[in-house]
Amino acid sequence: METFEGMKLLRAYLFGLVFLGLPSYLLYLQLSGNIYGRFALAISNVTHTGQIAAPDQTLVTSPIPAKTPLVATATAAANKKSAPKCLRVPSVDELCTNPHINDELSGIYSTFQWKSSEHLPRMLTEDQTQMMHEFLHSVMRAFCDLKIEWMIYYGSLLGAYITHDALPWDDDLDLILEERALRILAVEHKNGMLSARYNISYVITGGLHKLYWSPGKKIKPYSWAWPFMDIIAYNKSKESFSNLDIYRIHRFKAQLDWVYPLHMRPFGPVWVPAPRDPWRMMGLTYKKGMREFVCSEPHYDHIRERGRKGAKKNSCKDLHGDYRFVYREPKSDGGLIETLKLGDETLYSIEYDEPFYEDVNPYKWKMMPF
Ligand SMILES: *[C@@H]1O[C@H](CO)[C@@H](O)[C@H](O)[C@H]1NC(C)=O
Ligand SMILES: *[C@@H]1O[C@H](CO)[C@@H](O)[C@H](O)[C@H]1NC(C)=O
Ligand SMILES: *[C@@H]1O[C@H](CO)[C@@H](O)[C@H](O)[C@H]1NC(C)=O
Repeated sequence: METFEGMKLLRAYLFGLVFLGLPSYLLYLQLSGNIYGRFALAISNVTHTGQIAAPDQTLVTSPIPAKTPLVATATAAANKKSAPKCLRVPSVDELCTNPHINDELSGIYSTFQWKSSEHLPRMLTEDQTQMMHEFLHSVMRAFCDLKIEWMIYYGSLLGAYITHDALPWDDDLDLILEERALRILAVEHKNGMLSARYNISYVITGGLHKLYWSPGKKIKPYSWAWPFMDIIAYNKSKESFSNLDIYRIHRFKAQLDWVYPLHMRPFGPVWVPAPRDPWRMMGLTYKKGMREFVCSEPHYDHIRERGRKGAKKNSCKDLHGDYRFVYREPKSDGGLIETLKLGDETLYSIEYDEPFYEDVNPYKWKMMPF
């Protein structure tokens, strides 16, 4: 039965990556008030002027009237089922330059109801989700200030690809960044700047690099706190792109055009940079024995840093009324349309200039055999 093939990476993946503290899945949740405010940065009367290839641009291009509560506006838009909202995808250059980059997305996100499925519960509480968002936001600010190129990867990229968010049953973050960033982070950690300015700390543990929320309580007996993210460096040359993980299991070498130009992708309330062809990259990353993604609780608990017994597994289909999933359809002129749905309700769509893969649709995700 397909039922058991929801989302979970195969065991090898779980044990391998999770054990190393790498990616597994994230979880996410709803946003609650104040964090959403932070992501939204300044709420204003932004007019979204970017080119949107969607048929119905009415909602997108309407300026949000000044002083109108954004939540109300977004709710009205979200409820207008006849005209699914098509989001403008910001360019990666806007990441550090456009203070309103997340306004539209976080406005929509704030209208989503918090829900945990009895079939496969969320790993984080609403408060924990908020902490995770706050942490991510801090890290993103730091990376902008330090001019570090990065992108989400591993479990976070799977989440962004499959749910436009962290996976509900994941509990940490994963990203990769340019190699020089490791030196920068080490220096700024040592001189106290990371912690003073962003509340983040940097640690190398067993060859793996992590950033964690410095005010958090250390997870005994380790030297870091939750929330944290695992970071791995990459090296790009004129010909190829490869990560520098010391563990072979995580190693990959990719063609530059699978990675660049980076595409911004929704990750809960924020846009984050991601490789241009995420599924191809995931197929490259999760090799032998990890050919299919299934809906399953991770076998590892990152909040407590210990194994989790009796991990729940489920058909992804059983989750579709409780969690949001991305549907993909090819466009006749190339590229594809991603539509985020909760059950049968369409929340918004996005167009991407990315290859369309057949076995990548709810609720089945077959890795590409590269
Ligand atoms: C709204 O935008 C206009 C034109 O860009 C600007 O002059 C005005 O100050 C803005 N109002 C608010 C409340 O931000
Ligand atoms: C760091 O976190 C503490 C505790 O949550 C908070 O009081 C402080 O304002 C934060 N500092 C920065 C720079 O975000
Ligand atoms: C990174 O790539 C450059 C150019 O291909 C190469 O010279 C260098 O050795 C690589 N660094 C590592 C750590 O692999």
